[in-house]
Order: sequence, then structure tokens, then C-alpha cells
Amino acid sequence: MSEKDVKNLDETIENHTIEDGPIQVDESEIKEDASQYSDAELNKTTLTAEEKAAAGYKPYAEGKTKLIEVKNLKQYFNVGKKNEVKAIDDISFDIYKGETLGLVGESGCGKSTTGRSLIKLYNATGGEVYFDGTDIQSIKSKKDLLKFNRRMQMIFQDPYASLNPRLKVMDIIAEGIDIHKLAKNKQDRANRVYELLETVGLNKEHANRYPHEFSGGQRQRIGIARALAVEPDFIIADEPISALDVSIQAQVVNLMQRLQRERGITFLFIAHDLSMVKYISDRIGVMYFGKLVELGPADAIYANPLHEYTKSLLSAIPLPDPESERTRVRKTYNPDIHAYTADDVLELREVAPDHFVYCSPKEYEILKQNYNHDYK
Ligand SMILES: Nc1ncnc2c1ncn2[C@@H]1O[C@H](COP(=O)(O)OP(=O)(O)OP(=O)(O)O)[C@@H](O)[C@H]1O
Ligand SMILES: [Mg+2]
Repeated sequence: MSEKDVKNLDETIENHTIEDGPIQVDESEIKEDASQYSDAELNKTTLTAEEKAAAGYKPYAEGKTKLIEVKNLKQYFNVGKKNEVKAIDDISFDIYKGETLGLVGESGCGKSTTGRSLIKLYNATGGEVYFDGTDIQSIKSKKDLLKFNRRMQMIFQDPYASLNPRLKVMDIIAEGIDIHKLAKNKQDRANRVYELLETVGLNKEHANRYPHEFSGGQRQRIGIARALAVEPDFIIADEPISALDVSIQAQVVNLMQRLQRERGITFLFIAHDLSMVKYISDRIGVMYFGKLVELGPADAIYANPLHEYTKSLLSAIPLPDPESERTRVRKTYNPDIHAYTADDVLELREVAPDHFVYCSPKEYEILKQNYNHDYK
């Protein structure tokens, strides 16, 4: 397939709408084109050193250490039954120390399940999760589990349901301090809670109140204080701001960014849409129906999205400029446009350095050829 044909196909995909039905691609042209690559080349998923050097790119991982490694993770529910759900279907990614990885995708695509799998709330159906080099499934003794639980904390999706209504804020926040025996005495315990309340923008007096006496934003701050109480290395924030007003969302995001700067905490930040993770993420992963369909540096995902689903997510963000907003076209993602066959080996492939897309070998070659390295 010539460069011109590739461009034409790209334009066809670009202008395609759901009403048009599946895109008609001349298979013979693609087969002919693909035949110039060996099987090994077609099935490779990462760029060669030469390809990376040609792109003149500083590797994202340079000077960074992996905190989390997720390898071919699968989490199915109701296995073997009629209502089997592949909530996570073979996903792999790393999270580096001190970074924020944003995870986005529509409701039900498996974001919370991914977060819950990382803190070992489930026994994985398949694959592995390593935390600081240790396979989390191998952590079995009570003592080791306790140590592991202290290093990883989760801030939950619903600020109304995640705080025990019968406990005072003091005891909610101090729960982890008690479990891990971090306080020397009662006074030290109280002082730690007061300090945490101040860190999240609340005050000492709030310690004696019950959760129902707080607004949603304040409750979410209590949830953050509770997570911070055990001085974790890693926090999974599961849609921590979705239930909040826009003005409060910004405050909670700022608070988390400050904590990251000051304490070097690593974050997995889960959200529905890309506008929420834009300012907080170093890299972004996009999920669709249990699969990770795109993963890359935040600016690459915004300025140069490659997967059609990512493009549709981006097109859903309202634009601040009224003129552009009036002409904004919402794209609908139709998975049929890929026209995959049973023979296609679909995998997350590195299209440009550190920019991965879930695609077939054919799509991989086309995406690589057309990649705009000057998108910035
Ligand atoms: N314990 C469970 N048992 C059975 N199915 C489950 C369970 N937990 C999640 N699921 C299913 O797995 C899929 C992924 O759910 P998950 O909660 O991870 O989605 P999500 O991306 O977090 O969605 P949302 O944005 O609505 O929070 C859904 O289809 C859900 O119904
Ligand atoms: Mg969820």
C-alpha cells in the first residue's frame, strides 16, 4: 500500500461515523503490503532501538524505578457461568515511583477492578502484579500482608458510602494508625489526626464530628487523610472527584498534587473522562471493555491520540473557547471500524517511543508510518 493509500485510509477512518457501518478496506492491498514483513516483524510489539533513536526521544523510564508491574492481568467474574464478565482481559502496564498514572474509560470498562486487583482484593484469574519487585499473590503471612497493606492505600469512588457513619472522624482517620500501631500513646494518636486534618485543609475541631456532618468535598478530604495516615508509598484514587462540584474538584486535585510533590507518593488516578486526569497525570492509560487500548505520556494522549476510542473520549470534552465549542464534533466509537479477523493478533504495541496502542499488526504498521512526531 503506498503512502497515499495509507493517507486515504486514514482520512476514511477520520471521517467515518457510526451510521456508515463497518469501513470497507480493500483486503488485497493490505495483504500485499503486509507481505513485505516477516511473521516475526508483524507480531512484534515494541520498537527497535534504531526506530527509537530515529524518533530522537528520551525514554520515559530513564532514571525511573518501577513500583508496580502488571503483567497479562486477567480478572473474570462468574467464570463458566452465563453471566461471565471479563472485567480485566489481559492487560499489562507499569507504574513508576513518584509518577501519576491516569486511568480513564467509560463506566464498567474495568477501572475499579484494576485498582482493586492491585491492592489484592481479588485472586487474579490470570497474570501477575508485582509491587516493588514482589509478586503480590506470594504475600501470604499475616505479618507480610499487614506490611503490604500499609504501603498501598485506596481512596474510594463514593465519598458518601466509604466512611463508616457510626465512627467519629478521629477514629475513621486513626483506623490505620491503630492497625499498624503507629502511635506511641493516645495523645500522639490525636496529634497525628489533627495534623492530617490540617494537611487536607480541614481543622482540629472536625475530629469530633460524624461523616454525615460534612459535605461531599470534605468527606473526600477525610478519605484522603485516612489514606495518608499510614504514610503509604502508593495511593489508588478511584474517581476521587467525580461526585464533587467542579470548584471542589480543583481543590482536591490541587491537594493531591501537593501531596505528591511533598511526599513523593505514587498515584493511580482513575477517572471517567480525560478532562479530569489532564492536569494530574504524567502518563495516561485508556481502557475499553477490560482492555488497555492506549497508553502513553499525557501530552501524547491529548495532542496525538491514536486509538479511535481515545479520539472519541477526547471529542467528548467541552472546549473553553465558545467558537471551537460550537463547531466541536463528538465522535462515536464503533469497534466494527477495525474490521478485525479471527487471525489478527491484537496486542498493545509501541507505535512511537513510550506510546502504545492496542492494535493488529496491519494497523501497527500504518500507525507507525503515519505517526506525527512533531505533534507538540
Ligand atoms: N464483584 C463483581 N462481580 C461480578 N461482576 C463484577 C464485579 N465487580 C465488577 N464487575 C463487573 O466488571 C465490570 C467492570 O467493573 P468496574 O467496577 O471495574 O468498572 P469501572 O470502570 O470502575 O466503572 P465505573 O466507571 O462505573 O466505576 C463491570 O461489567 C462490572 O459489572
Ligand atoms: Mg469504578
